[in-house]
Amino acid sequence: MKTRLGVEFPEEFADILRVYNRYPISEVIIHPRLQKDFYNNHPKLDVFAEALEQCVHPVCYNGDIFMVEDYHAFQDKFPQVDRMMLGRGVIANPGLVREIRTGQQVTTVELKEYHDRLYAGYREEMDSERDALFKMKEVWFYLGKMFPEAERELKKVKKADRPEEYLAAVRGVFRG
Ligand SMILES: Cc1cc2nc3c(=O)[nH]c(=O)nc-3n(C[C@H](O)[C@H](O)[C@H](O)COP(=O)(O)O)c2cc1C
Repeated sequence: MKTRLGVEFPEEFADILRVYNRYPISEVIIHPRLQKDFYNNHPKLDVFAEALEQCVHPVCYNGDIFMVEDYHAFQDKFPQVDRMMLGRGVIANPGLVREIRTGQQVTTVELKEYHDRLYAGYREEMDSERDALFKMKEVWFYLGKMFPEAERELKKVKKADRPEEYLAAVRGVFRG
């Protein structure tokens, strides 16, 4: 199961954990933020450290691993944690886990393949071109971070409302 620390106060988490500890749960994935944090602030690693001691189930860490350096910083702090869940980091960079494991960085060609497959999939699955485009723009909110130099092109992606316009803007981003 997956959990945040609580709604408003980190002190809630000790009670929540006591409840989890009573049930046969195969893994507790902890995203150490409060509900009221949304994605603001940093994950509360001190509360995570306490939870790690108190939780009787295997613990998986989740939160703000965007780069290889984030992974190593976390591992240095918590070498005993061998389970990790990545969210936004892999939406932006689908090669992140490989890079963590092997050091091999993602290429622009791979990112374009990722984009094209995803877009084709959405076009097939969604009811309309508009919906598929809307989904892709959500993806670009994260993927765009891989192209910090392409501010103008990314703006065009955001504005595009027809597939041809969108694809032209996307080509601009990948051309770099
Ligand atoms: C687009 C998107 C959709 C998500 N959907 C869910 C969801 O359905 N259920 C859930 O528990 N968490 C969901 N999350 C939260 C993530 O699972 C994760 O806990 C959070 O993004 C923190 O991890 P990260 O810093 O690696 O992104 C979603 C996150 C994103 C970015």
